[in-house]
Amino acid sequence: MPIPLVKHIYDEGLPSWFPDPYLLLKAGSALGAVAMTKRYTSGAINTSERKMHGRVVLITGGTSGIGAEAAYELALRGAQIVLLTRLPPSDPWLIEYIDDLREKTNNELIYAEQVDLSDLHNIRQFATKWIDNAPPRRLDMIILCANIMTPPGGKRLETEGGVESMWQVNFLANFHLLGILSPAIRAQPFDRDVRIIIPTCSSYIASPPLSQPLSKKDWTPRKAYARSKLAMMVFGQAFQKHLDAYKRPDGLPSTPRVIFVDPGFTRTPGMRLAWLSLKSPAMGAQSLLFAALEGSLVRGSGGKFIKECHEVDFARKDVTDEEIAKQLWEASDKLIENTEKELGLVRALKKKAEEENAKAAKEAQKVEEIDALVQAIKKGKEKEKIKGKAKDQEKDSRKTKSRKKGNAHDKAAT
Ligand SMILES: NC(=O)c1ccc[n+]([C@@H]2O[C@H](COP(=O)([O-])OP(=O)(O)OC[C@H]3O[C@@H](n4cnc5c(N)ncnc54)[C@H](OP(=O)(O)O)[C@@H]3O)[C@@H](O)[C@H]2O)c1
Repeated sequence: MPIPLVKHIYDEGLPSWFPDPYLLLKAGSALGAVAMTKRYTSGAINTSERKMHGRVVLITGGTSGIGAEAAYELALRGAQIVLLTRLPPSDPWLIEYIDDLREKTNNELIYAEQVDLSDLHNIRQFATKWIDNAPPRRLDMIILCANIMTPPGGKRLETEGGVESMWQVNFLANFHLLGILSPAIRAQPFDRDVRIIIPTCSSYIASPPLSQPLSKKDWTPRKAYARSKLAMMVFGQAFQKHLDAYKRPDGLPSTPRVIFVDPGFTRTPGMRLAWLSLKSPAMGAQSLLFAALEGSLVRGSGGKFIKECHEVDFARKDVTDEEIAKQLWEASDKLIENTEKELGLVRALKKKAEEENAKAAKEAQKVEEIDALVQAIKKGKEKEKIKGKAKDQEKDSRKTKSRKKGNAHDKAAT
């Protein structure tokens, strides 16, 4: 078939239906350029592997985008996955999601715990329950993928506690969670490869310095997002130092490691950019998987930064500035303390009001019951009265009848 066709083209020239070869060349080059750009923007592929069977991984944001891909890949390798989700584990969507993930990865060890990162109290409830477990629970990895981004032009939002939403979910919540989980991280055996993985974003480079508070007047979604990411990086470095400084009871060095990851621009619900410039979520998860699986990352100090499956330098000096970290740590501790106190008071007042309402409702019900009883007794008595009257009337009428009969009899006898 191809030989006669080639001969035909050679003898007669191209058939009339055949597209213009110049046009074909142009279209081919354009397609090639698109394919090459897409390949380039898709980034590096992780080739590192290590055994994950039996390892316990806590992950926030594990039901969407890069986090969902990471959870899937780690579950596929046998890790026990605890998804920290905004939804309660009883939520039908979440139940179905976990069932599906278990089936796809052939791994039954996938669970969910409710941790709404916009709620400091909810974070505390989960984290204290985790650290109160005796003996201490195994913990190999914490991946902090949850994230929110107000779209450009969007309104400044605040949590119930009055904290700007991106600052709360992208930074303060992680500060709070890691702060409470710190004893559980440090209690892991010396030879356990414990990693805390913090995804970040190149937007941190353009953030205003943390020493400059972001006033409501100057607030823009871009500045606030970048600032929350920078804060997370500064805190991550400080948390690594906090872990390193721990004196283990066995005298051995503290080994948990914080690893930062820039996944690159990825097509996820939180990201809206042109298709060509975005990675797929599976490709976006590659550097994160490298951070989770690469063996060499446990050598040397923690606090490394991974991009395209390679270690890179931070683009800002203030990420490792100890004075800035100290100020951020102290200010965050204070903000959490004050916010929790205020919310605690609101909760206590709400509880008191609910209890009083419940008490009042109970008393009202009691009064209603007593009323109903009194009414029933009254009705019973009235019925008896009526019955008694009827009986008396019957007796009277019987008496009159017998009297009448007696009179008639007497009359007849006379
Ligand atoms: N995508 C990118 O282009 C890109 C680029 C650079 C860096 N990154 C970084 O990569 C990480 C993952 O990004 P992504 O784009 O994959 O995220 P995403 O798809 O937008 O998912 C965000 C996740 O965060 C969860 N979340 C939001 N608010 C929460 C709350 N209050 N409590 C608990 N969970 C909450 C969401 O849960 P619900 O589903 O319940 O809302 C969702 O699972 C982020 O740290 C991001 O900064 C992403």
